[in-house]
Amino acid sequence: MNLTKEEQAILDGEKGPGFQKAMEIVAALGEIYGAKNLVPIKSAQVSGVSYKNLGDAGLEFLNEWAKQGAKCTVPTTLNPAGMDLKDWQSMGFSKEFAEKQILVVEAYKKMGVTPTCTCVPYLIGNKPSLGEHIAWAESSAVAFSNSVLGARTNREGGPSSLAAGIVGRTASYGLHLDENRAPTIEVDVSAEIKSEADFGALGYLVGKKIGSKVALFKGIKKASLEQLKSFGASLATYGSVGLYHVEGITPEAKNYTSCAEKISVEEKDLKRAYGEINADTNEVDIVAIGCPHCSIKEIEYIGKKLKGKKVRTVLWVSTARKIKDEAVAKGLDKPIKEAGGKFIADTCVVVAPIEQLGYKSVVTNSGKACFYLSSLNKMKVHLADLDKCLKVAVDGKWS
Ligand code: F3S
Repeated sequence: MNLTKEEQAILDGEKGPGFQKAMEIVAALGEIYGAKNLVPIKSAQVSGVSYKNLGDAGLEFLNEWAKQGAKCTVPTTLNPAGMDLKDWQSMGFSKEFAEKQILVVEAYKKMGVTPTCTCVPYLIGNKPSLGEHIAWAESSAVAFSNSVLGARTNREGGPSSLAAGIVGRTASYGLHLDENRAPTIEVDVSAEIKSEADFGALGYLVGKKIGSKVALFKGIKKASLEQLKSFGASLATYGSVGLYHVEGITPEAKNYTSCAEKISVEEKDLKRAYGEINADTNEVDIVAIGCPHCSIKEIEYIGKKLKGKKVRTVLWVSTARKIKDEAVAKGLDKPIKEAGGKFIADTCVVVAPIEQLGYKSVVTNSGKACFYLSSLNKMKVHLADLDKCLKVAVDGKWS
């Protein structure tokens, strides 16, 4: 792989061991994937934040790197942590966990990472433009930025996205290159896809079939930002999709007309997806909204729906700190709190250690959350649209 003089100097340690380590990671990935060169990036987005997943070994690794003088040179934002960083007591997590989680965030801050703690950096100012190269790690944000914004990133790992943020470059391979952005499979959708949960179910069906292929979807008539963030999250979870195109909706779809390989999704398939995802129980301990993190529009809608009502289950509405602050300033949090719901920032049901809280069954409008809560936490899950989720929270049971 060709390195510029400056890149070689960093690799040789001229900017210190912290930068050297970062360049070693970026260059090694380039070698492995056959990149010809590195490409400058506009931003990085780092995953691997929850102490639940990192543990002491991860925390030590970060502290060591920070001590070596590593510092991000491009805007670098952070994925959700394991708790609301300001309001963790009311979430019921232990002091020991909270202390460690705060140390993790501090280590990232030392390296110049902005502690946004969200999976929707594109909703809070880290929004790349068409054709811009970035190095993002959160899989739902990778799918959104590649597909909906037309930015260019591979599905980075936590350390590699941080390394890219430090050296301000990433290896030019995979989805950074034109030739890998063309769809290789066409998905003809005749099922009516109406809600974010339907998009989650569609992501479930297609993701499982196509793995990491780039798909061209046809037949989807419209999709809101909120639905597309749910769609990408689900495709990335059930497959390992980093980029998809939707005819008439996403910006690069117009460059392509059809693919030789085709699959279809009919109404009966969608119904089957719900049947496969949903558990056979009416019990509901918790209703979880905000995977990926809620937009301000979703929070406003939830508030309107809950006004004057009380929830009988636990209800979590998760979002980014910046969006929470905006919602609070507008008074949008009030109906949620008055209904008895929890309005949470910095975390989500998947990365928080909710197993400590003893919940056994969940209803959510997120296909991605269904996957992780059933596979990792062994919870019984139901996927439903936002209206139904809120109805279940108020009724106290699935029906
Ligand atoms: Fe975001 Fe957590 Fe879902 S990180 S995409 S809310 S699993």
